[in-house]
Amino acid sequence: MLSIPVNIGLPRIPHLITSLPGPRARNIVERDRAVTSPSYTRDYPLVVARGEGCMVEDVDGNVFLDMTAGIAVTATGHCHPDVVRAIQDQAANLLHMSGTDFYYEPMVELAEKLANRAPFPYLNAAIGGSAAKVFFTNSGAESNEGAIKLARYYTKRSLIVAFLGAFHGRTYGAMSLTASKTVQRENFGPLLCGVTHIPYGTHASLDYLEEQLFSTILPPNEVAAIVVEPIQGEGGYIVPEDGFLPRIREICDRHGILMVVDEVQSGMGRTGRLFAIEHWGVMPDIITIAKGIASGMPLGAILSRPEIMTWPPGSHATTFGGNPVACAAGIATLRLLEGGLMENAVKMGELLQAGLRELHERFSLFSLPRGKGLMVAVDLLDRDLRDTIVQAAFYKGLLLLGCGKAAIRFCPPLVIDAEQIQVALDIFSELLEEVL
Ligand SMILES: Cc1ncc(COP(=O)(O)O)c(C=O)c1O
Repeated sequence: MLSIPVNIGLPRIPHLITSLPGPRARNIVERDRAVTSPSYTRDYPLVVARGEGCMVEDVDGNVFLDMTAGIAVTATGHCHPDVVRAIQDQAANLLHMSGTDFYYEPMVELAEKLANRAPFPYLNAAIGGSAAKVFFTNSGAESNEGAIKLARYYTKRSLIVAFLGAFHGRTYGAMSLTASKTVQRENFGPLLCGVTHIPYGTHASLDYLEEQLFSTILPPNEVAAIVVEPIQGEGGYIVPEDGFLPRIREICDRHGILMVVDEVQSGMGRTGRLFAIEHWGVMPDIITIAKGIASGMPLGAILSRPEIMTWPPGSHATTFGGNPVACAAGIATLRLLEGGLMENAVKMGELLQAGLRELHERFSLFSLPRGKGLMVAVDLLDRDLRDTIVQAAFYKGLLLLGCGKAAIRFCPPLVIDAEQIQVALDIFSELLEEVL
């Protein structure tokens, strides 16, 4: 049964009552400019006060339809009552104790649930062990950072293959795998050595890896891992060619390389499966997650086949990772995802893509939609047009985000309904009319 949040009072469609930004928002944006890092990337002056389901209200009382889910995070919608209740209950009992040095049940329970759902071989489960081992982190970058360490530790190899257009985070290891925009690297070097990038998503690229790189500069028996997003996220919501991901699995098997799948954006039900890799029936060796796992509480995780996660006590740890409040939110989130939200993501994703295909017939300004579930994007004619539409959408009460070179992504909370999908399409259509 789909569990839609009870209404706490926000309208279910955009409702603007001031010019934007309103006076309070303008004041906060000015204060922000004075004291926060200029490296943040805000496309428009949205100052959020509260959220409910797919709607957010700004500090001046304007209500927006959120097709961003706070960068693909609030899978269960903003402030889902079940998640809020789980957080409140846990917060009243225990805020922190550090799972690195002590035990508490929410961390174990969430690890059990994730391990039971990880798409790994079930051999170990059959003999009474777990199908996966879980290490909890605070973010996507930290999950990938740990995955690099784990892959190197287990294989005793150092080289890593990643993909152009990839985004894996901004800490040094993760940043070294990231190949999304030069601004993310410029003047930050030297980065981790031993990382080679190849183009994403095509068999031609894997031919290049096998036929050129493996026989010249990249001895495959020194490669620890191939790190891949099942659907490339920040790079443009790119769905790879058929057979691309299974072929990576084969290459890894042939050379004893670990297949590390970054599900930070594509995971936690967004594509209609808990992990996007399940669409291709591929079993990776390590999966990294974050974003949607705890509906907005900062939490991430590394899931690995148990025989791989053999690093000894003290070799890897973190003070906050697996925080009890975040884990309680994660348990409630998983229950909701499996209790109807993943199915809703499939249905609403189909509606959204059908509507975008219709608009594509009417306006020659953007590509056919691509993606799975509620991880959907279209390419605009160029970057300027994309930026103009993302900005203008805000002034009509619709929150959008770009990705890739000139794409707009639609990654709403998975609680979105048909009426809200239609509102998003109507506003998008108005915007296209206006720029024509
Ligand atoms: C696929 C992927 N991996 C990793 C990250 C980094 O996550 P975080 O910002 O939580 O460090 C992101 C963030 O957008 C992502 O999309």
